[in-house]
Amino acid sequence: MTVTLVIGTQWGDEGKGKVVDYFSKHADYVVRFQGGNNAGHTIKVGEEIYKLHVTPSGVIQGKIGVIGNGVVIDPESLLKEIEDLTKRGIKPKLLISDRAHIIMPYHKILDGAEEQYLGDKKIGTTKRGIGPCYSDKVARNGIRTNDLLDKNTLDVLLDRILPIKQKIIDAYGIDIHLNKKEILETFANYGNRLRQYITTTHIELNTAIQKEKNILLEGAQGTMLDVDFGTYPFTTSSHTIAGGSTIGIGIGPKHINEIIGIVKAYTTRVGQGPLPTELLDKTGTYLQQKGHEFGTTTNRPRRCGWLDLIVVNHSCMISGITKLAITKLDVLSGLSKIKICTHYQLDKKTIDYFPANIDDVAKIIPVYKEFKGWKEFQSDTKQLTDLPKEAQIYLSFIEKETKVPIALISTGPGRTETIEV
Ligand code: IMP
Repeated sequence: MTVTLVIGTQWGDEGKGKVVDYFSKHADYVVRFQGGNNAGHTIKVGEEIYKLHVTPSGVIQGKIGVIGNGVVIDPESLLKEIEDLTKRGIKPKLLISDRAHIIMPYHKILDGAEEQYLGDKKIGTTKRGIGPCYSDKVARNGIRTNDLLDKNTLDVLLDRILPIKQKIIDAYGIDIHLNKKEILETFANYGNRLRQYITTTHIELNTAIQKEKNILLEGAQGTMLDVDFGTYPFTTSSHTIAGGSTIGIGIGPKHINEIIGIVKAYTTRVGQGPLPTELLDKTGTYLQQKGHEFGTTTNRPRRCGWLDLIVVNHSCMISGITKLAITKLDVLSGLSKIKICTHYQLDKKTIDYFPANIDDVAKIIPVYKEFKGWKEFQSDTKQLTDLPKEAQIYLSFIEKETKVPIALISTGPGRTETIEV
């Protein structure tokens, strides 16, 4: 039995969908524990491309997909995902926690309103209502999956919550009236359609652990978007780090055997907020074009930069990462020189940690080590030793500096374009 956790070590979009899909072959359950449909996980199988937002990636391999209590669910988007997969011949085996919170229409309205109000100080959210939904969860004003299953319960909750939300919407000067009857009917209907999946997933997963099943926990976003350890306030609203996984599904931390950190061979970020190694030159554009760095969820161009080992080490430390999976190594091929950030300079001092203060982060000057580039290589290379020598040197430097072994290298989007070390 193993419980394996896969998380992103950077700002999300590290290629988790592909890695999770790869490790899913050994899993009985694939579990999402945080985030919502702000995530976009792409899986390429042959010529087929699947883009999933809240459904665990393992369902593509016919595994049981679990949406844990820590996830926030937009029922309309989830039902569409189920419908689309079913049309493509994959009837997802899904279990949804009875404690997961629901993204309501006013969450989406307020996400957009706050961002517009902030103007050039905005966070650059995905506008999916994620932040307002998590805020309501903590403020104890949330609506959960189990509430959708009983129309009377939902009715009482809406009576309590809607007038407050209407006041806030009015204060923003937005001309939208929250129609209680319509919301009640729509969400009770979603409840009926999702009823077959909603269950006590925490009990199911703890029973599975007792029965020695294999469980794969699929992180969304990345460490630098974690609400505590990321570039706050330019973060998402959930815990994207290893610690977030156990509270997001209801298992004890001792059950996790392996924590795999995904490291994209360079760095990207969507949305606002500092990115110390950002490249605003033609190399940045080259990485963006060659790496198809456009958001799966919002289609926004991703900002690109050199690999930042301060970020990766921060992530390894906070999450206790036991193995690394390096993705998109092929995108770096063809560059004559490649750099890795090893230290920061802040106010003329050299530092080797990620500062908390966002103004300090914005002032950071990265200190780089330069590497010789390598030529394009076959994307179906199967052995690490068959990679160009310069690429091997690049990888062993990452291992040496993080003190974490590399278990997997992805050299292209397809399932077969993978080297297991
Ligand atoms: P939110 O999660 O929609 O509130 O967005 C907050 C920040 O997290 C924004 O900068 C988003 O671009 C970023 N973000 C959210 N989800 C993802 C993701 O899956 N990949 C990369 N960035 C994300």
